[in-house]
Amino acid sequence: MTGKDSSSSHPREGGYDLVVVANRLPVDFTVDADGGVDWQRSPGGLVTALEPVMREAEGAWVGWSGAPDLEHEPFEADGMLLVPVTLGQDEIERYYEGFSNDTLWPLYHDVISPPTYHRQWWDAYRRVNRRFAEAAAEQAAEGAVVWVHDYQLQLVPKMLRDLRPDLRIGFFDHIPFPAVELFQQLPWRTQIVEGLLGADLIGFQRGGDASNFVRSVRRLTKHTTRGPIITVADEDGGPARHVRAAAFPISIDSHHFDALAREPEVQARAKEIRADLGNPGIMMLGVDRLDYTKGIRHRIKAYGELLQDGRLDVERATLVQVASPSRENVGAYQELREHVEVLVGRINGEFGELGHSAIHYLHHSYPPAEMAALYLAADVMLVTSLRDGMNLVAKEYIAARSDEQGVLVLSEFTGAADELAPGPLLVNPHDIDGMKDTIVAAANMPPKEQRRRMRRLRRKVMADDVAKWSQTFLGVLTAMPPRTSHG
Ligand code: G6P
Repeated sequence: MTGKDSSSSHPREGGYDLVVVANRLPVDFTVDADGGVDWQRSPGGLVTALEPVMREAEGAWVGWSGAPDLEHEPFEADGMLLVPVTLGQDEIERYYEGFSNDTLWPLYHDVISPPTYHRQWWDAYRRVNRRFAEAAAEQAAEGAVVWVHDYQLQLVPKMLRDLRPDLRIGFFDHIPFPAVELFQQLPWRTQIVEGLLGADLIGFQRGGDASNFVRSVRRLTKHTTRGPIITVADEDGGPARHVRAAAFPISIDSHHFDALAREPEVQARAKEIRADLGNPGIMMLGVDRLDYTKGIRHRIKAYGELLQDGRLDVERATLVQVASPSRENVGAYQELREHVEVLVGRINGEFGELGHSAIHYLHHSYPPAEMAALYLAADVMLVTSLRDGMNLVAKEYIAARSDEQGVLVLSEFTGAADELAPGPLLVNPHDIDGMKDTIVAAANMPPKEQRRRMRRLRRKVMADDVAKWSQTFLGVLTAMPPRTSHG
């Protein structure tokens, strides 16, 4: 969806009953010479997840536009108020590329890449979190629900509670929460835990993430815990608060994806993709942000070895790897791109033939209809993350396959594996030999077995969609017992 809004609207009198706070706004927008706004919905999963509840509540969404120094008043788009938070170039470098994506991201993904700790990045993180908290405090009605998202904004719950004790505050961590033994490397670990504990409800993708967090609370603070409940003592001797930490595995808009993949144009496009690839006997597919957590190199290495060993034949099999550009100013991402592209080049040079590439590597992102066509075309979907909060690509593949065909190869180290086993073929991406055997098994799986597994996967993914996820989280948050207790 797109829109134009030349006059910025004024925030609703009395404020909004539901305020979402996320690093990114759910639209890409530009401001023209007269100060008017042109916007276009950005395809992220969170927008789809929250759209129905936002419309119903006429909510407000606080976030960054994605561009440096863009200043604009709140404006209405798609039935909600969008509240742009301005980030200067320096803050993008320190808060977003630095602390969020070169400190927290690698640390929370089990230090696959070494995290960098810089005090200046931490200062910027605090400063920017405060700006988000202030923007949310300004929009929230008395007693409103504020839902804060992800690792970029972990200090917001406490900052917001200090500004507005009347609010009901939820936080959802979209990525893993690490074991305390790793988390305690962070010089500002206690501040982060205290920041999160400003919320009433803290949601995680997996039960294991929630218990890692509770262990960190026990190790790093004086608060007491009992199962998922943390009792936070008031610094000024007031009554204690109860905070709940629990798993709420996120999903996708399964019915939308299912319907998209049934559209005749999408089905025709799937056939066309296969024809363009020379109608391979087996088409394998990888779809990822180009991120070192995704195990893209491990997957390609395994694939290359299968060609080398003669267990796969380039005239029969092909791998399509979509790697969408991501965080391109961060060194670890630049290095990964180099490594992946050298590896793809080497394998194609060695095993490709005229008219038969071993790997089709696409460094682009595609709209949902093209993704659905790719999923429909693929016999085997390879999701081989080294660590992944959930992995929604796995769920999209399942939702697209109403024909009940196709095989999902899924890393054990994804949140999706916790939820979807035993339907997928699980792999440990560090075990290259194991992964090779599983890829061969996937390529040779009889249609009947594919159907049996895909049916089971679809039952799960079609029932637990993203609307249910947001309703469940908000349901638990609003039903929580009164905030204060003397116990
Ligand atoms: C992950 C994070 C999101 C983030 C997305 C894209 O899914 O959990 O918070 O928005 O990656 O990354 P980017 O840095 O482009 O926002």
